[in-house]
Amino acid sequence: MSEENGYGSEGSIGPDTVSDGADLVETRLRAVIAAARYNGIELDRRDFRQASPETVPPPAALVEWLRGSGLWAKATRLRWKDLLRFTDGAPVVLLFRDGSAGLLTQGEAQRNLVWIKDPRAASADAPVAVDELRLSQVWGGEVLLVRRARGAEQEDSPFTLGWLVRLVMQQRGILRNLAFSSVAISFLTIVPPLLVMVVVNQVVVHRNMSTLAMISMILAIAVVFETLLTFARRELILVLSARVDTELNLHVFNRLLALPMEFFERNQAGKTTYEVMQITQIREFITGRMMATGLDMVTLVIMIPVLFAISSVLTWWVVGGSVVVALIIMVFLPALRVLTGKVLAAESAKGSVMVETVYGIRTVKSLALEQARKELWDQKVAEAAELRLKAGRLARWPMALSLPVERFIERGILLIGAYMILTGATDVDVGALIAFMLLGMRVAAPLISMAHLVEEFEQVNAAVGIVGGVLNQPPETRGVDNGLRPRFEGALSFKDVTFTYPLARQPALDGLEFEVPAGSTLGLVGRSGSGKSTITRLLQGINREYTGFIKIDGVDLREINLQHLRRSFGVVLQDNFLFRGSVRDNIIANRPGLVLDDVVRAARMAGAEEFIERLPQGYDTWIEEGSPNLSGGQKQRLAIARAIISDPRILILDEATSALDPESEALVNANLARLAVGRTMLVVSHRLSSLVDCDSILVLDRGKMIDIGQHKVLVERCAIYRQLWLQQNRHIDPQGRSAPGPVLAQGDD
Ligand SMILES: Nc1ncnc2c1ncn2[C@@H]1O[C@H](COP(=O)(O)OP(=O)(O)OP(=O)(O)O)[C@@H](O)[C@H]1O
Ligand SMILES: [Mg+2]
Repeated sequence: MSEENGYGSEGSIGPDTVSDGADLVETRLRAVIAAARYNGIELDRRDFRQASPETVPPPAALVEWLRGSGLWAKATRLRWKDLLRFTDGAPVVLLFRDGSAGLLTQGEAQRNLVWIKDPRAASADAPVAVDELRLSQVWGGEVLLVRRARGAEQEDSPFTLGWLVRLVMQQRGILRNLAFSSVAISFLTIVPPLLVMVVVNQVVVHRNMSTLAMISMILAIAVVFETLLTFARRELILVLSARVDTELNLHVFNRLLALPMEFFERNQAGKTTYEVMQITQIREFITGRMMATGLDMVTLVIMIPVLFAISSVLTWWVVGGSVVVALIIMVFLPALRVLTGKVLAAESAKGSVMVETVYGIRTVKSLALEQARKELWDQKVAEAAELRLKAGRLARWPMALSLPVERFIERGILLIGAYMILTGATDVDVGALIAFMLLGMRVAAPLISMAHLVEEFEQVNAAVGIVGGVLNQPPETRGVDNGLRPRFEGALSFKDVTFTYPLARQPALDGLEFEVPAGSTLGLVGRSGSGKSTITRLLQGINREYTGFIKIDGVDLREINLQHLRRSFGVVLQDNFLFRGSVRDNIIANRPGLVLDDVVRAARMAGAEEFIERLPQGYDTWIEEGSPNLSGGQKQRLAIARAIISDPRILILDEATSALDPESEALVNANLARLAVGRTMLVVSHRLSSLVDCDSILVLDRGKMIDIGQHKVLVERCAIYRQLWLQQNRHIDPQGRSAPGPVLAQGDD
């Protein structure tokens, strides 16, 4: 599209000269960065990966990039008319056909112009006015909308029933249509009984055939309309449920992921999963019973005046009876509430036994714990069943007591009405009586269902409490989407860092003070429980309540954007979780912009290439949950590949090779030297032999730093280190190298 570049005679809204692909792409990325900056988020150019600088980034990848940084983003198509409506100054990214982009700052409907800015221009440069024809030469309608995450306050406010109702209320369009259809349906339910009244009074008494014919017509039409409207209303409710469900699910998962690691360490996975799943019950209540009662209320409001007009005595009878039923139910509520709470707690306990057992099935089977688990399950099942029975029995009472009242209402209408006709009361005749019988129960039903609503509400409120118990935990510091995003070199420094785990009596780290120059390797040694993993956890921002200062390249850790921080680390643990998916998917782990070439490169660096190529389908081999089809060493090398594919500045290996056989360990260790090039590396290992080449080794004991230095120095100087070394390498001289020795004995207290 060569003429594309000709539009900018008065100023540019895109590249002026014919530029190469990389230039165009750069413009597009800059536009995205500028739009994000307008919304207060600084994007990191390096977070966005492309196959090559010339590949035009697809809108979906840009959206993912923006969303990953906590913004709301959407790729869509707009027409010229829509552009004119953007008047609030928030930039819209216009994606041009040639791969570049422009920033629409404002539309001006009166002059039929839009103002567009070149993303590459200085920020002080004024935007250029562009008309429809000129824009259409470069732009086909693709835009990227960027905003602060929608309803940030809605996201942050605590999870309560009120919050949920507000969520439903956001669907204004659907709710409005629902209200309309309900009013219409209400009329359609009220009119036929009134017509019946006319039939009885006029047609039968005066033998008027033509009126009968007309009424029959009207009734038939009313049926058709009622059917259609009810059908349509059902559709509205379905759409509403689906939308609310989707919103709720997305939101709940976001909140869950935002919870700090500590939360998951304190709470069993089974319990948390079960509790969060209660959300379905709540959603069903809101779009089910609550919605239905609400719609019934519409009918009620319309119907009651009509009924009063027909006969106030009978109407009072119906309303009075319904209130009695409601009162009966209310009396039982407090007791029901208590029981419902207990039932839910018992169900939760039961659910977690199930989840936990499945989760730990390997241990259960290999230790033959089936019987013990069964007994536990039996007990939980019995408890839950007993409570349910109890609750059911209690709930039976209000039902039993209200039944006669309901019958009274129904039959009372007939009896009282007949009595009134016999005694010659003025306001009731036979037609009115019949109409009343047809309409009366329509009044009683919603009033009674209101009372049931309150009853069910108790249950749902308990469920809201349970879900809230998980979701209303304070999320990881708000630093997730703000904070600095510095470019790391990888120099680490600890200054007087002391950290105590919540509820622990002794500090896990006590006054640590050391420095690691960028690009060097630090080994961490110490007995089990001495705080090695805790150091790595603090660095990744998993635990943040430490005192003292941790700095990366001189920047205080607390000031750094948490996501940015964690992305700058590659971490390999002793036991790494591989997700269901192919080998390739597992190494890429859904990070945007990575392709097979990156995977192969990472696999080669991790020493995994050779075994992956021997797998039946190579990089496409499927890995199941828990990866039973891979050996420990293979899993570990995949995990290393996964950790280094994004080329992190800092690599943490926490016992990454401890579970490996000597051969695999040697393989991985041989690659470590290669991995270490250009990175800062923290290696925790029980096998000192794999640390001898480290630039320095830190010796920890009970959270205190004992010494730091090179292997040669430590063997001479540090008693603890020498002892550990000798334990593992009795057979060789302290200065020499050795084959991996036995693992250091576990446990200190
Ligand atoms: N999540 C946690 N919650 C509470 N206390 C913890 C937690 N993790 C570790 N600790 C405690 O902190 C101390 C240091 O633990 P850490 O995991 O850092 O030791 P380590 O040196 O990595 O041990 P190992 O070699 O066994 O992995 C221990 O006393 C441990 O009990
Ligand atoms: Mg550890």
